[in-house]
Amino acid sequence: MCHVMQSPPGAETVIDGRRYLYFAGTGYLGLQGDPEVLRAACEAMGRYGLASATSRSGLGTTPPLLDAEAQASAFFQTPAAFYFASGYAGNQILVRTLEGTFDAVFVDELSHYSVFDAARQSGLPPIPFHHCDPESLAAALHRGLRPAQRPLVMTDGVFSVLGHIPPLPDYCRVLAEYPGAAIIVDDAHGAGVLGAAGRGTLDYFGLAAASHGEETSVAPDLGQIAITPARKYVRLSSLTEQAGQAGKPDVHDYLSCRGSDPSSTRTDLLDGLAIRPAGTRLFFSATLSKALGGFGGILPLDHGLLKRVRAKSHHYQGASAPPVPVAAASAKALEIVRTRPELRGKLAQNVRAVRDGLRRLGLAIDDTPVPIVPLCLGTAENMQRIHRQLAADGIMVPYMPAYSGLGPAGALRLAVFATHTPAMIAQLLDALSRALG
Ligand SMILES: Cc1ncc(COP(=O)(O)O)c(C=O)c1O
Repeated sequence: MCHVMQSPPGAETVIDGRRYLYFAGTGYLGLQGDPEVLRAACEAMGRYGLASATSRSGLGTTPPLLDAEAQASAFFQTPAAFYFASGYAGNQILVRTLEGTFDAVFVDELSHYSVFDAARQSGLPPIPFHHCDPESLAAALHRGLRPAQRPLVMTDGVFSVLGHIPPLPDYCRVLAEYPGAAIIVDDAHGAGVLGAAGRGTLDYFGLAAASHGEETSVAPDLGQIAITPARKYVRLSSLTEQAGQAGKPDVHDYLSCRGSDPSSTRTDLLDGLAIRPAGTRLFFSATLSKALGGFGGILPLDHGLLKRVRAKSHHYQGASAPPVPVAAASAKALEIVRTRPELRGKLAQNVRAVRDGLRRLGLAIDDTPVPIVPLCLGTAENMQRIHRQLAADGIMVPYMPAYSGLGPAGALRLAVFATHTPAMIAQLLDALSRALG
């Protein structure tokens, strides 16, 4: 059955004619229905029409589009930004742009569809490594590369259903042995959420300053970076695999975490001694369609990389520019996120409240700032029952039978917004407590 959303997605959302408390989707900062954002879209459309009906290399660049790029580079603190119609295409644009600078592609095995699609577009077979596991990456690099070959590593910045954050500093440490290495991070779910300024997963790890993509300029002093305790997601199936019963990776394999005390607020300093990341190029793609409250893909970068993106990716010459109202809305939403940090503060507070509350219900929940909380509660039938019971109570927490990285039972995917009130969160926890029995 196809559900129909009949209001903007927000803390309360109308679906199939009924108003729900909405703990779903990706509008983490609650901007999709923001009056200022909608007004900007309407005003721009009145002035410039719906779309320019030509590509960026022709006459397709409109003022709202330039505003969106200027706002994006102000938000991400990069010299430039490239805005295009589809967030999904961001990884492909980067891979295409980097063509000829890598010899093999290594991909976290639970990465998003768009990451694998982009990796395959390179013409090289993606070499998977175990989810969020730098040791597995190191082994894959060792097996997959001949001397002097340059690896490209690809991963989600925040995994879209599991909510995990990959240990990027550890990946840099592993890649230090490989001159010319590059990492592409798909930060669709990290941008606008993670990091001191909300710039995403690289910001979270203090790597943001090194993420403009210039191949020669990347030399962050990782020895000085404070990071949260490294989480190691235990692949429970690895034991059976060793016993010769290899299976497809499964979300349930990765729900436990080891190697840190999840309740700890301690921060570690990377020892840094073995890390020489100069030459490890860091790139990230993001979308404006989720926390950032607009629509379309965004690549924050420097002018050198922008030139190469325009020349090589074909999205500059061969694709219609993002529509005018969408560009104007995106520019306004970016401005709001940048100038009102209290929105992210509210989101962080709500994420803590939901995660703490779920733990009080007896569930094993990680202590992370990610607004995505997967609930893997036994069989598909049990989770469908819980989903239906919550929906009957007026609360929408979708059951996802299938998505990249999900195993056969699927998962309930709970999303937290900045706009949820304490009363709404209490209502969710109450209803969930009843549904869990
Ligand atoms: C990890 C990830 N990358 C890329 C995308 C695609 O972004 P967009 O929907 O803006 O095209 C999504 C989801 O929609 C996603 O979850």
